[in-house]
Amino acid sequence: MTYVVITFVVLLILNIYCSSISQMLFYKSKESAMIEKCMLAADEISTLEVLNTSTITQIVNQLESLTVTRLMITDQQGKVLYDSSESCVGSYALFPEIMQALQVRDDTPTGNKVFFWQYHDGTTDSRAAAPIVNYGTVVGCVYMTEYDTTQGALIRSLQLTVLRITLFLEVVVVVFSLAFAKTFSRRLRRIMASMRIIREGDYSHKVDMSGSDELTVLAEEINDLTDRLQTSERKRSQFVSDASHELKTPLASIKLLTDSILQYDMDLETTREFVSDIGSEAERLNRMTTKLLSLTKAEGRSTEESEIIYMAPTVQRVARMLRANAMQTNITFHLELEEDTPILILEDDLYQIVFNLMENGIKYNLPGGSLTVRLSRQEDNAVLQVTDTGMGIPEDAIAHIFERFYRVDKARSRATGGSGLGLSIVHTIVQRNRGQIDVSSVVGQGTTFTIAFPAFDAEVDRE
Ligand SMILES: Nc1ncnc2c1ncn2[C@@H]1O[C@H](COP(=O)(O)OP(=O)(O)OP(=O)(O)O)[C@@H](O)[C@H]1O
Ligand SMILES: [Mg+2]
Repeated sequence: MTYVVITFVVLLILNIYCSSISQMLFYKSKESAMIEKCMLAADEISTLEVLNTSTITQIVNQLESLTVTRLMITDQQGKVLYDSSESCVGSYALFPEIMQALQVRDDTPTGNKVFFWQYHDGTTDSRAAAPIVNYGTVVGCVYMTEYDTTQGALIRSLQLTVLRITLFLEVVVVVFSLAFAKTFSRRLRRIMASMRIIREGDYSHKVDMSGSDELTVLAEEINDLTDRLQTSERKRSQFVSDASHELKTPLASIKLLTDSILQYDMDLETTREFVSDIGSEAERLNRMTTKLLSLTKAEGRSTEESEIIYMAPTVQRVARMLRANAMQTNITFHLELEEDTPILILEDDLYQIVFNLMENGIKYNLPGGSLTVRLSRQEDNAVLQVTDTGMGIPEDAIAHIFERFYRVDKARSRATGGSGLGLSIVHTIVQRNRGQIDVSSVVGQGTTFTIAFPAFDAEVDRE
């Protein structure tokens, strides 16, 4: 509809312009012809000594080229001295053209040449008047009218032709617009139907669209989006089932322990033991939910609030927190924090990374082992390295350690209270902050986690 209306308006304007231009051309050609005739007659008449009906008639009869509808000659008052058709001789012709032609003013001392033209209903009506000047004074006026049907017919046929072309073009535009709109809306409806199916939750649905226009690109984008939705939906349900499974185990233990206490007659000592077990299971649940919350927080946070910070103070803070843990298994810390480079990150994020890596370094270490944290700069990166002298990670497990709830040795890890979420939190945060994480490990000797972040100064240089 918009196309049709726009082209209609444009064609209408073009139509009006063409017809007014053609009328203007006809007007101009008529004006010069009529004025010329008037001047010719006025010149001839101005040579007369006496201006009266008979002298004028004589002159007019000699002017054969004066083929006009009506010719009128008046004196300077507008009194008709000669009239070719109706006999108005003797009366005053107070036509506006004659009055204007006879008007003498300071700026027009010898009167005016006047022309009036109008087109109406297949005829052109032209009127011209010119003063008869004798020795610088206006003595009369020549007035002519002409009704021209030939010129009128020409204008009419020209306007008709333009109108026909306009109508033809409009019809073409309407037909094409309709055809185009029909295919366009059919394809659009197909996309909308697909989107409705996808909205209902069927992310495997694909929009089927061929072609090379924007609608095809849109369909491809939608298919891309549903692919992503499908993946994230799969991950989400996997996560929910993993999480419930993980939470189920300690809950089942608690249930079992309470049932035992309630069902059996136990001595105080055994009851205490059972209650203490319930306490540790509750503690495990608590740790797991805290980690789950950290993970959701790590995924949802934006890097916009990042600040420029040095890593050493955070490493020292974590070391203070974990010192007691380390002492239990006689693990010594080596902190090599001299080569510290500022990076752009949230302090809380950095804390999570360092805490989880160092906590693992203690948890999966051997009694009497050591844990080294080293800061260094490598080219444009600030590097954090956490090395332990622990049990190491088997090669086939390395590919999985960043997955949620993955633990190499489930039994052992559970015993140490591990939920398998620490490294996935680390991985999420590192990725979000455009960092890179690497693991190298030798079973029985130890593990090194290396994290590289773009150094803040290098980032500034790049921008
Ligand atoms: N430094 C390490 N040495 C040996 N194995 C490790 C080390 N760090 C991690 N792992 C292995 O990778 C698994 C995943 O680690 P992650 O930190 O994600 O979970 P977790 O330590 O078991 O539990 P959480 O950190 O959530 O309390 C661990 O269960 C452990 O088997
Ligand atoms: Mg851990």
